[in-house]
Amino acid sequence: MRRVYFDHSATTPVHPLVAEEVYRFMTEHNYGNPSSLHYFGQIARKALDESREKVAKAIGAKSEEIIFTSGGTESDNMAIHGAALTNIKRGNHVITSAVEHHAALNAVKALAKQGFSVTVLPVDQYGMVNVDDVEKAITDKTILISIMHANNEVGTIMPIAEIGKVVKDRGIIFHVDAVQSLGKIPVNVDDLGIDLLTVSGHKIYGPKGIGALYVRKGTRWRPTLFHGGAQERLRRAGTENVPGIVGLGKAAELAMENMEAENKRLLTLRDKLIGEVTKRFSHVRLTGHPTIRLPNHASFVFEYIEGESVLLSLDMKGIAASTGSACASGSLEPSHVLLSMGIPHEIAHGSIRLTLGAGNTEEDVDYFLEAMGPIVERFRSMSPLSEEIDYNKNIKDPGNLQSYC
Ligand SMILES: Cc1ncc(COP(=O)(O)O)c(C=O)c1O
Repeated sequence: MRRVYFDHSATTPVHPLVAEEVYRFMTEHNYGNPSSLHYFGQIARKALDESREKVAKAIGAKSEEIIFTSGGTESDNMAIHGAALTNIKRGNHVITSAVEHHAALNAVKALAKQGFSVTVLPVDQYGMVNVDDVEKAITDKTILISIMHANNEVGTIMPIAEIGKVVKDRGIIFHVDAVQSLGKIPVNVDDLGIDLLTVSGHKIYGPKGIGALYVRKGTRWRPTLFHGGAQERLRRAGTENVPGIVGLGKAAELAMENMEAENKRLLTLRDKLIGEVTKRFSHVRLTGHPTIRLPNHASFVFEYIEGESVLLSLDMKGIAASTGSACASGSLEPSHVLLSMGIPHEIAHGSIRLTLGAGNTEEDVDYFLEAMGPIVERFRSMSPLSEEIDYNKNIKDPGNLQSYC
């Protein structure tokens, strides 16, 4: 059966050159502990240093500002808790947005339970945070602002550079989750005014379970999650995952090399997908911003349809898609992102996310479009809801979205 992988926001296949590097550090160089002073340790140490440089280069940072972690979730928690607890004497107010990944949102919620005051900013119908709202939310107690660069569920790219300008010179720490944006759009910590930045390996064709946190030199931040050894210059205790780190470094290097050409290619496929889906099917709307979105990201809500049922049918045709966040699957609750955008509960259940990547071709898009026709028709004809619900109610102005065609 033909297999089409349209779930690159959930995870990406490991690039063969990355796999080669990881394998090398699990075989020939496998036993060196980078903290050991002998020959074996020093090979591992050198590999860590080189990877640190590659990751730093990908985001315009200095290598000593990179801390290796176990992935995006750890980096988000480390950034948010570290910044909040380090600055508690200066203030107790934290700002975030309603559409953050749960790794950040739940980290901020945990702070609220510890007595921090939290502002969760709303988003517009495209899932975009308003820069004025950020400015208005700042008080003299604000110590941390955490906003993602690009949304994993709807692909919208946030106005990070503008927020960076608002935050600048106010003594507030600015954390950005760049898990979905790195390798797809330019991420430069100086241009964007970022103090802390989260990176994850498995979204950029690297291994799972490896990531990094960028901490700008001079930022009032200290590690608060782990207590242990002196690894990562006392910033992240625990023996380093050398093969994973080597893989992350290689993945970051390749992502920078390939970004421009690959994204041009994916943009064409994405636009065909969005154009055809909104043209061929009725009662479907694009979710997220029509243009300020990731070049590989197409996401929709189909009315009168359960996203999960569509996914299973697509899977039977060999097509791997998602209803939104992989982390939220298995939950009956519709996505917090879609609800925050004003999409009603019933419609949010019909969400489908198609995220393109390295292996995808135009034939994949055509194959999907052909497969999707009968699936939509079947589920719509079975839906008892199709004649009962006024689906326009509660929807925020859809603006110039190609909706309800
Ligand atoms: C925006 C965002 N942040 C954080 C994470 C968590 O990263 P990890 O899977 O490496 O823990 C993800 C993963 O889906 C994500 O999309």
